[in-house]
Amino acid sequence: MSKENRSLGLFSRIFRRNKKIVQEQSDASVEVTLEDFKLAQVARKEGRFTHKLYSINPGFFVIESYPVYEPFAYVNIVEDPNGKLIYEVQEISLTPEEERIYREIREHLVWELKPIASLDVDVANEIRKTARRIIKEFQIRFTRTPGLSWSKIMYYVERDVIGFGIIDPVFRDRYIEDISCNGPRKPVYVWHRKYESMPTNIEFPTEEELDEYILKLAHMAGKHISVAYPILDTILPGGHRLAATFKKEVSTAGSTFTIRKFSESPITIVDMILFRTISPEIAAYFWLAMDYKMTTLILGVTGAGKTTTLNALATLLRPTYKIVTIEDTPEIRLPQDNWVQLVSRPSYVGSGVGEISLFHLVKMALRYRPDVIIVGEVRGEEAYVLFQAIATGHSGMTTLHAENIDAAVKRLTSPPMNIPPSYIPLVNIAMVIRRVQVRDEKGRLRPARRITNVWEIKGYEDYVEIARWRPLEDEFTIDLGRSIILDKISDLTGLSKESLIEEVERRKKILQWLASRKLSDYKSVALNVYSYYLDPKSMLRKIEESS
Ligand SMILES: Nc1ncnc2c1ncn2[C@@H]1O[C@H](COP(=O)(O)OP(=O)(O)OP(=O)(O)O)[C@@H](O)[C@H]1O
Ligand SMILES: [Mg+2]
Repeated sequence: MSKENRSLGLFSRIFRRNKKIVQEQSDASVEVTLEDFKLAQVARKEGRFTHKLYSINPGFFVIESYPVYEPFAYVNIVEDPNGKLIYEVQEISLTPEEERIYREIREHLVWELKPIASLDVDVANEIRKTARRIIKEFQIRFTRTPGLSWSKIMYYVERDVIGFGIIDPVFRDRYIEDISCNGPRKPVYVWHRKYESMPTNIEFPTEEELDEYILKLAHMAGKHISVAYPILDTILPGGHRLAATFKKEVSTAGSTFTIRKFSESPITIVDMILFRTISPEIAAYFWLAMDYKMTTLILGVTGAGKTTTLNALATLLRPTYKIVTIEDTPEIRLPQDNWVQLVSRPSYVGSGVGEISLFHLVKMALRYRPDVIIVGEVRGEEAYVLFQAIATGHSGMTTLHAENIDAAVKRLTSPPMNIPPSYIPLVNIAMVIRRVQVRDEKGRLRPARRITNVWEIKGYEDYVEIARWRPLEDEFTIDLGRSIILDKISDLTGLSKESLIEEVERRKKILQWLASRKLSDYKSVALNVYSYYLDPKSMLRKIEESS
């Protein structure tokens, strides 16, 4: 058995036992000495890197440089002579002696780890403890060898055994949204918040290394990928969403993977206002509409921000509502207590046996008597059940992969969703979110996300555009006077349309106040929304007094 295989055995042994391993944070525990900083600086200057990264080209221009894990890992955004941007990870390198010790420690670790006794231990911590112990023993053994940096060795042990291996620094980079690998001997690509898509200087030099890496990721998620079952869609420790293919079974160039990084703090509706993805007034309009159980459909292409918008809006739901969420991969996080999260399960044998699909779960959700059913994304027959649920008085929220309302309705009414056209008006509001380019104060183009259109659905192929984004001015227009949803709410409640518009105005004030105070974190938003529901008058008074 090769060394790598043995350590993979270790992974499957350990990670299969515990799916809830939390990804370690960058403050994780390696003691860094002044000596390390000096060493790191020298290594950076000399451009020494681990063998799997290729070094900076001297002719390239460094645009930005920042640490992701000081003093061990840094990122440089560089531009090649043709103006192409490259994302360069630089890690402090090990000396040959350190590298040898590092390999020995890993070897020992594989053999010394004991099977874990109970299911609720923090596996990563156990491994770290054992690693510490082994390193201590090694420190004693190597006291006579000068110039060894134990924290550097520890960094690599943690990175490779409990971390994400050579991609670990990218995971630590807050600016990165997506990481993808299209095969061996090809640069890994990232999607950077500021610079968008870029190749990195990381690649898997051989098919074997990439296959092993994918096995490792699968084991970390407590899932299975193999030649027999070569695709995987799951959540990694730390909440990152992974999609992967194995060997050349279904991907001609060899194994591939793509990771949607989980962000520690979910993007809230107030963040979206601060990013100008949505205007406070449009957000307030959604807040009111959802409060009266209007059904909402969020449209957009891959990675546009649909799930994020869904989550941000769902946080505004009345805390007393019973909410059931249904997803393929658990991405939604809600502050409400009265919330049941259901997640589908694939069939492991490939024949459909044991599979629990979104369809089953939506049917099942009705038993929970929910006020609101949230489906992460509709794609298939579950859409039909969801529409039936909406027809029987539940409120629904979901996302759909489509560019605009016409494309969405076409998809909904065609196989496999097969929604009858007469059901389409059960959706009350549809919106589309897009990745766009806007000019900043200095006139430079930069990527951004905007909710570009909001429609109210009157009938099949009969939509009222209630709000839109004007690209030239980068401003939103909303016309609540045209709203048929407000008319509907007015019929339901007896409140006049004017008083509903005033209510939108009040909620807009709350959101603006939160935005102006930068109270955009998940907790503050949830808390203040809750306070408003509980006692709107004193909440408004508080805002009046403090502004
Ligand atoms: N308004 C926004 N501003 C900035 N970043 C955003 C915004 N919305 C989403 N993002 C980021 O974009 C990435 C993709 O978002 P999200 O998962 O919501 O997209 P999606 O449309 O659901 O994608 P998919 O089609 O793959 O499900 C995430 O990393 C998220 O943090
Ligand atoms: Mg999504």
